[in-house]
Amino acid sequence: MSTIAPDTDLPLDYKKKTIKTFHQKKERGESIAMLTGYDYPTALALDRSGIDAILVGDSLGMVVLGYENTVPVTMEEMLHHCRAVARGARSALLIGDMPFMSYQVSVELAVSNAGRFLQEGGMHAVKLEGGRERLDTIRAIISGGIPVMGHLGLTPQSIHALGGYHPQGRTTADARRILEDALFLEEAGCFSLVLESVPARLAEFISKRISIPTIGIGAGSGCDGQVLVVHDMLGFFDRFTPKFVKKYADLHGEMQRAFGEYISDVVARRYPSREHTVEIPEKEWQLFLGEIAVDKHK
Ligand code: KIV
Repeated sequence: MSTIAPDTDLPLDYKKKTIKTFHQKKERGESIAMLTGYDYPTALALDRSGIDAILVGDSLGMVVLGYENTVPVTMEEMLHHCRAVARGARSALLIGDMPFMSYQVSVELAVSNAGRFLQEGGMHAVKLEGGRERLDTIRAIISGGIPVMGHLGLTPQSIHALGGYHPQGRTTADARRILEDALFLEEAGCFSLVLESVPARLAEFISKRISIPTIGIGAGSGCDGQVLVVHDMLGFFDRFTPKFVKKYADLHGEMQRAFGEYISDVVARRYPSREHTVEIPEKEWQLFLGEIAVDKHK
């Protein structure tokens, strides 16, 4: 597919991040920085900032498309945003999030959909939610040459089964199940694993127990890396902000300020001013008025 033409001004010695980068960072004890991204300009900024990985998360259904949760997100919506991100990023590892029902129906459909993320979306890897119940699917996707990131703990696509967005792993049995699932995913060949909304002590324990890097979200500082939803950390999505999010900016507030200033400028006719206006040379204008005047008398 030649629909993707990365177009950034990275220095020539930029380093392409790969799944190997993830493993090397874990070996060296260096933390992995990942953020979600859903569009071209954000991908450019993320890439230039030196981010290790961009996850085109199905969270886009909520923070970009305004759905109540991630359940309605489709393959076509995901691929549309993946392509935009792939056009903007040259260095970061790009991971596409497989949406609800794109990998649960059959192993064949899952492999085919995972392939679409690479062939049509320009991604380098896919992420999917679930533990022991997904092992056949994960193995089949990996044997097709597609790196897979796992996702345990709070798995938002199962919101109806989980009964809401509650932290997971807070009982002995639940913590044990998550640890076992992490071991299963490592064994199945996942290159990395997201741990969402689990107790920090459990996340740290799992991170030390498995050889693949864990990426935490609401899982404390003991993970091998961190991920946040970019709209949350930029203060862009204002409907609600999870407790574990640190806001690094207030884009929603800044947008409202800018929109308000624009409206006042338009109402007061301060915008557009001369510097924002195209002029016609005086001579051409007089000729134009002359011609119009002649036409009127014809
Ligand atoms: O969809 C998403 O953005 C995610 C992250 C929160 C890990 O799955």
